[in-house]
Amino acid sequence: MSIEKKILSREAVVGIIGCGYVGLPLALEFAKKGFRVVAFDLDAPRVDQINRGISYIPDVPTPELSECVKKGTLVATTDFSRLATADTVSICVPTPLRKTKDPDISYIVSALDNLVANRNPNGQLIILESTTYPGTTREVMLPALEAEGAFKVGKDFFLAFSPERVDPGNPVFNIVNTPKVVGGITPECTRLASLLYGSIVDRVMPVTSTESAEMVKLLENTFRSVNIGLVNELALMSHNLNLNIWEIIEAAATKPFGFMPFYPGPGLGGHCIPIDPHYLSWKARQTGFEARFIELAGVVNGSMPHHVVNRVAYGLNEQTKCLKNAKILVVGVAYKKDVNDLRESPALDVMALLEKSGAVLSYSDPYFPTLKWGAETLSSVDISKPEALKKFDCAVVITNHTKVDYKTLLGAVPLIVDTRNVFKGTSHPSIVSL
Ligand SMILES: NC(=O)c1ccc[n+]([C@@H]2O[C@H](COP(=O)([O-])OP(=O)(O)OC[C@H]3O[C@@H](n4cnc5c(N)ncnc54)[C@H](O)[C@@H]3O)[C@@H](O)[C@H]2O)c1
Repeated sequence: MSIEKKILSREAVVGIIGCGYVGLPLALEFAKKGFRVVAFDLDAPRVDQINRGISYIPDVPTPELSECVKKGTLVATTDFSRLATADTVSICVPTPLRKTKDPDISYIVSALDNLVANRNPNGQLIILESTTYPGTTREVMLPALEAEGAFKVGKDFFLAFSPERVDPGNPVFNIVNTPKVVGGITPECTRLASLLYGSIVDRVMPVTSTESAEMVKLLENTFRSVNIGLVNELALMSHNLNLNIWEIIEAAATKPFGFMPFYPGPGLGGHCIPIDPHYLSWKARQTGFEARFIELAGVVNGSMPHHVVNRVAYGLNEQTKCLKNAKILVVGVAYKKDVNDLRESPALDVMALLEKSGAVLSYSDPYFPTLKWGAETLSSVDISKPEALKKFDCAVVITNHTKVDYKTLLGAVPLIVDTRNVFKGTSHPSIVSL
């Protein structure tokens, strides 16, 4: 049976490599839509947890996962030989940066090695989802899969790139109602990848090449990084001008056209915005092009944790205290609201800077009951209990989780540095804003 018929009849076995924030929700969606899904990961405890039907990703509800596992439509494995049984394979492995800020595509290469070693020669459809620089699919994946001419793309196998656009913690947009961009090596690759994703998402947006599809994701994330950089700079400027940046953004956002609000904060976090633009500037540099907006946004956004620490020092100084030995509660360590993800979190930068100045650190975050900090393991402080707050000289709000009542800090801690405007509209002498 052709791959097209298998997709249309839902008989295709869907392989997903990498069961993280991107791969697990994707695997679940395919399973819910009636495909048989095999999810591959190197991490045996994760695989075991999936097979017990227990989710570790907030956007993946355990009841839905366990139903698919019980029905047998979703199974996870560390046995990569089973890749040979998959009709389609979506690769969702990490794409971090090296210390030099150059792309680290070693996880993609490792997934690729497994695909080549466990080949399904019957027209397998392979789709890379990991965010990467334009050219990765054609320059890195295609030659390995063609195996020096032994296999022909568009005939023996099909290859495409489709960027994952998941926004963890977003209550409105999910895999299904977020359009999926698809670009294949050949028009047939694009058509088949569009057909596959068209069976789980409301809208597929085909583009003419894998490079275009790779670039779409980098445009989206660079757009965010640059606009956040701009608004962070405006926040620093407004501070000097004694203006409230939040009020200004809120008013500007009433313009129904030509403006889109972005908000300042303690710095960038997560796996995407602080990292992806560097993939693009690295690739641009290979062609002799300096991506100046990207670099500038990186500098401004990277300075925000220092600004936060300056605001803490200023607030303490006003109360004739100093950072050294000050007891500081960092409120929220996740990189953004309503997620249990610490990656690149600006809270960690702020904590490191505070510690370097001699502050004594504690933290509070309902998504992290404990936090490994150097040789120590810290426990989350429950800020709903006033007695737990008594000892602190300052609370610095880094993450604005929806389920946290920040008002309990008012009157309980002598100084509150609010980097997220959680105290919008509240006037209190203890509050120092960004
Ligand atoms: N998290 C997001 O919000 C988000 C959004 C859009 C795009 N992305 C992109 O999607 C990709 C995956 O990100 P993520 O957040 O899901 O990462 P993650 O770290 O949450 O998950 C990656 C998973 O891949 C597994 N893995 C690593 N190497 C492997 C290999 N060779 N074979 C099999 N499994 C392997 C890891 O064990 C882990 O379970 C990245 O390129 C990221 O930039 C992430």
